[in-house]
Amino acid sequence: MSDLKGARILVVDDDAPIRNLLGHVLADVGCRVECVGDGGAALSACRKRSFELAMIDLRLPGIGGLELAAAIGEKWPETAVIIVTGVADTVTAVGCMRAGAFDYLMKPFDLEDAVLRVERALERRRLLVERGQHEAALEERVRKETRAARRLFLGAIKSLSSALEAKDEYTRGHSERVSRIAGEVARGLGVGREDTGRIRLAGRLHDVGKIGVRERVLAKPGPLTEEEYREVQGHVVIGERILAPVLADSKAVEMVRHHHERYGGDGYPDGLRASGIPFGARVLAVADAFDALTSDRPYRSRLSAEAAVGVLRGGAGRQWQPTLVEALVQRLDDLWPMLVRLHGRESGDVGESLSNQAGGESSGDPRQRG
Ligand SMILES: [Fe+2]
Repeated sequence: MSDLKGARILVVDDDAPIRNLLGHVLADVGCRVECVGDGGAALSACRKRSFELAMIDLRLPGIGGLELAAAIGEKWPETAVIIVTGVADTVTAVGCMRAGAFDYLMKPFDLEDAVLRVERALERRRLLVERGQHEAALEERVRKETRAARRLFLGAIKSLSSALEAKDEYTRGHSERVSRIAGEVARGLGVGREDTGRIRLAGRLHDVGKIGVRERVLAKPGPLTEEEYREVQGHVVIGERILAPVLADSKAVEMVRHHHERYGGDGYPDGLRASGIPFGARVLAVADAFDALTSDRPYRSRLSAEAAVGVLRGGAGRQWQPTLVEALVQRLDDLWPMLVRLHGRESGDVGESLSNQAGGESSGDPRQRG
């Protein structure tokens, strides 16, 4: 099919007989032609409707042909441009082509040749547009498939992490609870949805690196040797290595790496301190500790919510950020029943006194509860 039929063409020439002649010839072969006499009129025509092709006289009053061609190329890149020029301006016309014009037509022109060049420019434009669309579709497909592959892999890592925890009755469900606690703390502080989601995700995956720690070290009830302790510490870096290629979100990966940093600076793996620790990692540290304290361990029974808060407050400033500890306390009335449910325990009332204690004494009476 000819590209001429129905093609929208803009003819810009201050010489009325020439633009009318071009207009008639192109209309005769089925094009829809609009003729204007200067650059200003051409730009306003382009703003009103799109053109497949603009035929621009190089010597225009006001906005020159070159300038007009450049403006159209920038604002409407899908409009092909043919420069119409006199013999004296051929060098400039060639320069225009280098700058993106499709062709040039030299006055006085042969009408058949003019139509042929218009047809050729339209054909080339069509191919370029099709190629652009094809590339865009291809890119979108690659993006979608990458996202799908990442989701799949991430799903596999989440189940791997759950499976790892499920093997040990003491850690079962730990990451899910840490994720919920951290998410609640962040939400309570007015952190936006996207960042809260990121913190929750990092919470869900924070200990995935324990896959790389020997099981007998992980499950050892007694104190660890120096070497075993170093091995356990390695889980934050292993976690980072597992997640970096899967998570497009490098901030979540950073949170996993730094969730054992301490506010006072003596944590691992990098000994970061205070605001040098990524915010999400500071939140995770508080959530991680609270869940660990309120869960049974092989070497001790779980603490009550009050006792756990006492421990957190006791370590505030040294191990945890004080404001984050208090943010957790503020959310405890909502958090505790949910945690009890996730643990599969019976009673879920944290007690009224606790939420009124915010900012109070630094260690509590470790009464057992929940
Ligand atoms: Fe950890």
